[in-house]
Amino acid sequence: SIEKSLRPQFLSQYIGQDKVKNELSVYIQAARQREEALDHVLLYGPPGLGKTTLAMVIANEMQVQIRTTSGPAIEKSGDLVALLNELQPGDILFIDEIHRLPKMVEEMLYSAMEDFFVDIVVGQGPTAHPVHFPLPPFTLIGATTRAGLLSAPLRDRFGIVEHMAYYNQSDLQEIVIRSADIFNTKIEESGAHELARRSRGTPRIANRLLKRVRDFAEVSDQSEINQMTADHALNLLAVDNRGLDETDRKLLETMIDFYQGGPVGLSTLAANIGEETETIAEMVEPYLMQIGFIKRTPRGRVATMEAYEHLNRPYDFDENK
Ligand code: ADE
Repeated sequence: SIEKSLRPQFLSQYIGQDKVKNELSVYIQAARQREEALDHVLLYGPPGLGKTTLAMVIANEMQVQIRTTSGPAIEKSGDLVALLNELQPGDILFIDEIHRLPKMVEEMLYSAMEDFFVDIVVGQGPTAHPVHFPLPPFTLIGATTRAGLLSAPLRDRFGIVEHMAYYNQSDLQEIVIRSADIFNTKIEESGAHELARRSRGTPRIANRLLKRVRDFAEVSDQSEINQMTADHALNLLAVDNRGLDETDRKLLETMIDFYQGGPVGLSTLAANIGEETETIAEMVEPYLMQIGFIKRTPRGRVATMEAYEHLNRPYDFDENK
């Protein structure tokens, strides 16, 4: 499928995240030379930056199988044992949203990661007895939006910890051009530039917006996406000049119009705009923080002068925000 082919297969095709790629390529090459499983890898950073894609790339580069699951999907210890039981030596188990593992399951992972065994209880009541269950050496790749949400014992068991940062303009532009090529869509550099500029540093958003812009271009009989096509379509999608969407703007407007720019707590804000606190913390706030529209203070979040200016609200310099 197109969705699948958008994902790069090898590190050499993976655009951006140079620090992560450079480090991983060394660890991958070393593990391959020793014919060992790669050490456990923790990938953390905002959603949509390619953590799952990178896990699949690592599996390809290591020439091993990857099994994919997520923290909330593993409900009981037995679910984890079933997954571990399928692994061949060197295989990868990828757990997305690993901060959402049930506590019992997380504790079982400790020995699995450190010494490649799990202790399980077989039978019930008087016949219940512990069984020592050895595992092949494997690689756990965990992904999380915030490393701070992981318990220290789990975090400490990852030998390789990589932070995924928001993509810069030129890397995002390259991703847009690559995706347009896979879609067989013509795009001028100016069009790719406009899309990259308004995709919040996030390939998943860039690829989604590219598809919508392509729709607009096709129905208006434009053979090629240029800056004007992109601008027109993105305006219709309510993606503003800085790439902010309706939720982003609602958050900033609430901070400014209802809380005089803050400080205000995240859960209060979330309740005000009808979103989950977790959604705001993971998907909305980080980018607004990154572009300097929000600052974190001990008493809560505050909107900065840049946010006031963006929303055309008068900024009172005397208030010392
Ligand atoms: N598609 C999404 N993210 C990508 C990346 N980092 N490199 C290449 N293609 C991508």
